[in-house]
Amino acid sequence: MKKFFVIGNPIDHSLSPKLHNYWFKKNNIEAIYDKKELNSDNLKNFISGIKEKKIFGINVTVPFKKSVIPFLDKLSPEAETTQSVNTIYLDSEKVIGHNTDIIGFQNSIRNVSYDIKDKKILLLGAGGVAPSIIFALNKMSVSKIFVSNRTKEKAENLKDYFENLIVVDWGEIPSFDMIINATSVGLNNNDRINLDLSKIEKGKFFYDIIYNPEETEFLKLGKNLGHQTENGKKMFIYQAAESFHIWHGVKPNVDEDTNKILNQ
Ligand code: ATR
Repeated sequence: MKKFFVIGNPIDHSLSPKLHNYWFKKNNIEAIYDKKELNSDNLKNFISGIKEKKIFGINVTVPFKKSVIPFLDKLSPEAETTQSVNTIYLDSEKVIGHNTDIIGFQNSIRNVSYDIKDKKILLLGAGGVAPSIIFALNKMSVSKIFVSNRTKEKAENLKDYFENLIVVDWGEIPSFDMIINATSVGLNNNDRINLDLSKIEKGKFFYDIIYNPEETEFLKLGKNLGHQTENGKKMFIYQAAESFHIWHGVKPNVDEDTNKILNQ
């Protein structure tokens, strides 16, 4: 039986096992997907299970997406540029690290039929997920990417990898079409981002990477002001679907049932 894991710390709340085990059943694949809480000390040992063929595939989540890199043989170009790995597998006896968060984000935008090409984007946050979002935005040919982070230096550092970024001060709101919350503000209920978004024009798109809670204060505000909103649930589902495709060569169906599974 093929074994899969999602590794992180904490990992209790990960929905990846639910999703992958559901898709195994749907696609008649004999495999099992579990979660494993690790510390940085046992990452190396755990990942060696891939080369030893005890583990077929690993998903990586916070806080290890960068720290797994020294224990891999090769990175995909996406993982290399973003320095972020969420999917590990064996190919020609080499342990490969790939980043499917990028395609996850792209597909979530396609899914809502938002015409993102030539749009001006304001990205809030410069933490772990930011490079994946920027990589995807560039692939989708947006016109401008403003980045604003409470600690400005971290936003400036992103320019080493993405030259086209325009860094703005925290609190400054440039004219934009779409605003993306990639900070961790909102993970705790009632968390509020201390930005004044009340004066922006109508018809913008508020996107939050967070999907639990389903509607952050950021999205509530966007909705109340009459803007389009979307949380990170589809991004989560599509990153999982892409990992599944890499490991099994099959594209799982992403439909209403998939959504329901995650709500159970
Ligand atoms: P890390 O910064 O270790 O990569 P992360 O969870 O990937 O952690 O990123 C958290 C993001 O949320 C960062 O952009 C962080 O801003 P700082 O770089 O200034 O820490 C942002 N963030 C967290 N709490 C915040 C708050 N109260 N207000 C604004 N931004 C916040």
